[in-house]
Amino acid sequence: MTTSDSPDLSAEALPLYIPVILGTVRQGRMSQRAAQLLTAELARRPHVETELIDIARLPLPTNDAGEAIKDPEFSARISRSDALVIVSPEYNHGYSGMLKHVLDSCLKEYIHKAVGVAGVSAGVFGGARGIQDLLPVLRELGLVTIFWDVNFANVNQLFSPDGTLSDERMLPRIDQFLKELIWMAKTLRHGRQHITLQ
Ligand SMILES: Cc1cc2nc3c(=O)[nH]c(=O)nc-3n(C[C@H](O)[C@H](O)[C@H](O)COP(=O)(O)O)c2cc1C
Repeated sequence: MTTSDSPDLSAEALPLYIPVILGTVRQGRMSQRAAQLLTAELARRPHVETELIDIARLPLPTNDAGEAIKDPEFSARISRSDALVIVSPEYNHGYSGMLKHVLDSCLKEYIHKAVGVAGVSAGVFGGARGIQDLLPVLRELGLVTIFWDVNFANVNQLFSPDGTLSDERMLPRIDQFLKELIWMAKTLRHGRQHITLQ
C-alpha cells in the first residue's frame, strides 16, 4: 500500500491548502460575505492555509471555453490544493454560469481532491437546488464531494451591513462542514501520496 516502509512525514506535515472559490462575478454579490466568513473560519483551524479566490478577478475570456483558456495562476492554486470550498449562489434554480466556465478551465488539477459547497440564496432554500445540480459536475471533474453542505438561506438577513454574520446559528453548521472537509482532505492527501491506482 505504501511506497516505502517509512511514510513521508514531511509531506504529511505540510499544512492543508484549502482555498475558497467565490463563484459569481455579479456586482453587489452577497456570496462575497459568505466566502469571506468561510475563509476566516478556515483560517482559524490549525494546520490549514486558505485564501479567497474571486472568479471575477480571473482573466478568463468568454469567447472560448475549457482547458484552452486555463489561467496558469488558478491552475497552480488548484494543483496545490488539498480541498476546495465552493461558494455557489442560486441563479434561477441553478448555479452560476460563470462558476461553471471557471471550473471547466481545469481538469487533472482536481483529481482526488475534496470539495464542499456552500449555497447562497435570497430565498429559503439556501442555494440547495444549485448545489444539487453542481454535484455531478464536481464528480465529473474528479473531485470528491463531502456529505455536508452549508446553506446561506435568506442571505440578506444573515449579515449586517458591515459584512459580519448577524445570525450565529450558522456557526455550528459551518464547523461540522469544515471538520468533514478537513477529514476528507487529509484522507485524500494520504491516498494521493501513498496509494497507487492498480
Ligand atoms: C440571475 C439571478 C437569478 C436568481 N435566481 C434566484 C433563485 O432562483 N432563487 C433564489 O432564492 N434567489 C435567486 N436569486 C437571488 C440570489 O440568490 C441572491 O442574489 C443571493 O444573494 C446570491 O447571489 P449573489 O451572490 O449574486 O448575491 C437570483 C439572482 C440573480 C442575479
